[in-house]
This record gives sequence, C-alpha cells and structure tokens, in this order.
Amino acid sequence: MKVTIVGAGNVGATCADVISYRGIASEVVLLDIKEGFAEGKALDIMQCATNTGFNTRVSGVTNDYSKTADSSVVVITSGIPRKPGMTREELIGINAGIVKTVVENVLVHSPNAIIVVVSNPMDTMTYLALKSTGLPKNRIIGMGGALDSSRFRTYLSMALGKPANDISAMVIGGHGDTTMIPLTRLASYNGIPVSQFLSEEALEKVAADTMVGGATLTGLLGTSAWYAPGASVAYLVDSILNDQKKMIACSVFVEGEYEQNDICIGVPCIIGKNGVEEIIEIELNDKEKAVFAKSAVAVRAMNDALKSILA
Ligand SMILES: NC(=O)c1ccc[n+]([C@@H]2O[C@H](COP(=O)([O-])OP(=O)(O)OC[C@H]3O[C@@H](n4cnc5c(N)ncnc54)[C@H](O)[C@@H]3O)[C@@H](O)[C@H]2O)c1
Repeated sequence: MKVTIVGAGNVGATCADVISYRGIASEVVLLDIKEGFAEGKALDIMQCATNTGFNTRVSGVTNDYSKTADSSVVVITSGIPRKPGMTREELIGINAGIVKTVVENVLVHSPNAIIVVVSNPMDTMTYLALKSTGLPKNRIIGMGGALDSSRFRTYLSMALGKPANDISAMVIGGHGDTTMIPLTRLASYNGIPVSQFLSEEALEKVAADTMVGGATLTGLLGTSAWYAPGASVAYLVDSILNDQKKMIACSVFVEGEYEQNDICIGVPCIIGKNGVEEIIEIELNDKEKAVFAKSAVAVRAMNDALKSILA
C-alpha cells in the first residue's frame, strides 16, 4: 500500500494530500528534484493528520529513489505544466526527457509497480513510458480521462442544476483540447438520457466547455489546474490499490480495440490491482467512430513527433 509520486508540484502534492486524507494508501513518498521541496510538501501534509484524522505516512525526498523502494503504484507528475495560450502538446520536448529518466529510475527500486503517467502531453508520455520500459501494457496507465470525465460531469451538472454525483458521463479519445470526445449521447442523469432535459445546443456547449476545460483554468490561474487533476489521480490510484475494478477512462495501449493499434489513447478500462484489467468496447455510432479515428490520428502524430525528438 505504498505510493510514490514523482513531482511534488501542484498536481503531485494535491494527489498526495487527497490520498492521505481519504486513507487510500498507508504510505506516500513524494520525490522532486528541487532541494527540500518534496520534504516541505510532505511535512505540511503530515501536519494535517490530527485535524483531518488520517494515519497515512507521508514523506518527501530530493532525488533519492532508494526511498521509493517497493511502491505498488508510482505516479509521474514531474515536468512542466502549460501556461496560458499553450497547448499540452507544446510541452513534449522537455517532458519526454524527464518522463523517460524518471520511469527508468523508479523501476530500479520498484520493479513490480504500476505506473500512472500524468505529465503532458499525457497520451504520448504514456506511450513513451510503455515503449521505453517494455513493461506489459496493463502496468502503464495514463490519467486524463478521469479528469476530463469529471469536468464533463461538472458542466452537465451545472447545465442541469443537478448534483454532479447523480450524473454518469465519460470522455474518451486523446487528452487534448481538440482530441477528447465527451460522449454526450451516453450521458445520463440517474439513468435517464440527459438529452431528455437539455437541448442539442446546450449539450454542444457542455461538450465544448469540457474540451477547453483545462485551458479555461490555465487562463484563469496562470498555470495548469491541480485540485481536480490531483483528485482524479487519487481516484485512479484508489481503484488500483484497493482492487475496486472501477470503470475509468484511461489512456492505455490499444491492440485492435476501437479499430486502433500501437497508440495509447483514452478508452473505458476496468482498473484493479493488476492495473488495466479489461478494456470495455462501447458500441459507437458512425459519427463517434469517425471522431475517435480523427482523435487517434492526432495522438499518433504526436507520437511521431516524439520519435523524431528521441532519434
Ligand atoms: N494528465 C492530466 O490530466 C494533467 C492534469 C494537470 C496537469 N498535468 C501535467 O502534469 C505535470 C505537472 O503539473 P503541475 O501543475 O504539478 O506542475 P508543477 O510545476 O507544479 O510541478 C512539477 C514538478 O515536477 C518537478 N520535476 C521536474 N523535473 C523533475 C525530475 N526530473 N524529477 C523529479 N521531479 C521533477 C518540478 O520540480 C516540479 O516541482 C505537467 O506536465 C502538467 O501539464 C496533467
């Protein structure tokens, strides 16, 4: 029940906070390259324990991977976030080098860990982690769909005036402003199609708001968001560590599913103690199939850009 989070920045530290607060793991190690930074974040979180009542041990280290040994799950949030006006894709050059080195380092001390990739461009970083390590595909999971789906449910709840937890909805496809696919047709309010309550125009607006959900926050905050991203990672880690077998949209390696091969892209997955335990194939209509294929083209193009950077 030990989780390592590499990158003690906004998303990493928030994830550690939520994991501790909710008692998801017994131990969390935060690791960062900035001297003292992870130690400071860990100490700050630990000082919440008596007020919020958790028993998780949280510690921080600067670059000492030996302290991460025997982690069941390793979350990778190290890298740079986007600034206003930037796309996630523009981060590829810097983050690729960081993610590749970090994954190599964590596996030395936690050879059996399940790796959760958060750094952007997330689908390509997940593909990089898979290809550079040669790990089985069930052990490399990209987190993006959990966040995009929670943003979709939030915007639906705001449009409906109903609680977000009464709404079931999912976003699949790439984790990019133009590549993600909010599955509006399948969204429901307690099992009732949302189209019964919202006009086509209102649903289109919800989908559009969802797709630029991250960019909207980056514009408001001056940097990439962290509360919902951190909570989304914790939700995913919970399903792995506690073998909950939740269905969560994750970026995983596909081999024929959704008519795609050799890319990591967001699809509904059953997530449990073995990582990705099953990919659920939704019967998409022709329009959704076409959008998914287009999204896959964009994700593949980003992987090609990565190959030329690494060459
Ligand atoms: N997948 C998603 O849904 C999602 C959501 C939000 C953010 N992100 C991405 O997550 C990443 C982190 O975002 P953030 O807002 O936490 O950024 P941040 O700048 O607050 O934190 C990043 C941390 O990584 C550390 N770091 C850099 N290189 C490192 C290395 N080699 N080893 C260890 N630590 C290293 C930095 O020192 C920093 O503390 C970004 O790439 C961002 O785009 C992804």
